[in-house]
Amino acid sequence: MTIGVSIDGVLVPAGEARVPVFDRGFLYGDSVYEVIRTYGLAPFATTPHLDRLAASAERTALRIPWSDARMEEEIGRVVQASRGGDEDDPEGAPWNRGERSIRVVVTRGSGEMGLDPGLASDPMVVLLALPLRGPPLSAYRKGVPTWPVGGPGGPRRGGDPSAKTGEHLFHVLAVREARAHDAHEALLVDGSGYVTEGASSNVFAVRGGVLETPPLGAGILAGVTRALVVGIARDLGIPVQERPLPLSALEGADEAFLTSTVREVLPVVRVGDRAIGRGEPGPVTGRLHAAFRERAGGHESGKAPPRG
Ligand code: PDD
Repeated sequence: MTIGVSIDGVLVPAGEARVPVFDRGFLYGDSVYEVIRTYGLAPFATTPHLDRLAASAERTALRIPWSDARMEEEIGRVVQASRGGDEDDPEGAPWNRGERSIRVVVTRGSGEMGLDPGLASDPMVVLLALPLRGPPLSAYRKGVPTWPVGGPGGPRRGGDPSAKTGEHLFHVLAVREARAHDAHEALLVDGSGYVTEGASSNVFAVRGGVLETPPLGAGILAGVTRALVVGIARDLGIPVQERPLPLSALEGADEAFLTSTVREVLPVVRVGDRAIGRGEPGPVTGRLHAAFRERAGGHESGKAPPRG
């Protein structure tokens, strides 16, 4: 099957899956979501993801109609429905082979047309289990280019960056700009010139042996992978500082990397036109990814990603 779809707890063939045109998620981006991934087809870090979904719902005054236990059960069902039919991806990272990413979307539901959230009372839950398409293995070996977007006088993002909502146009256009420059990810730069996060990732720099990442107060999503990597770094004795990251500091860093559910720990070797360090993945990034791999498991668990 490879793709599993569940709408309000009913499994639907992917080709027949439809949502109502009056759904407020479709009309207004009036929804919250999470992306969870599997290792060995078991959902990973479900609890922090569901906690963040609840926090996003709270911030947007949206009701999650299911308990966490029901959500976990339905996630298990949609993953089960998606099993099999995988095509081999020779470029893919081995730890992603046969795995799924699970998109959990809760919209405010349908109602009479109008912005007033009181017009809808029945939230809709859509679960998608899709073949996990992570960066190719070569991206981990060689690192990826990124492109800074925004900055003083640049376009401003709207909404609450700490809530994971369906409203994504700013991020879509940021990624468009990054792709126009052949970059893997857009780095969002705020009006004061600080890098906050990637369009769908958190950002880290290594300077003088210290791991730096913008604090939650900088206007970022509290990444599940970010928190795991900060914990791993502390366990390894690598000093961590959560502090605002000026674009110039990132450009002058010894190493940089991105974290996200789908990317794990992905080395960054360019920011705009500037090479980071020697323009190749750095040793601290490699250590952190190797330690993350050991904890996460999946195929070839415990093996450090090949680099260089
Ligand atoms: N996005 N920052 C933003 C803006 C994100 O959208 C994401 C993840 C992250 C990283 O968070 P985590 O480590 O919990 O995945 C940071 C998901 C994966 C997405 O939209 O696809």
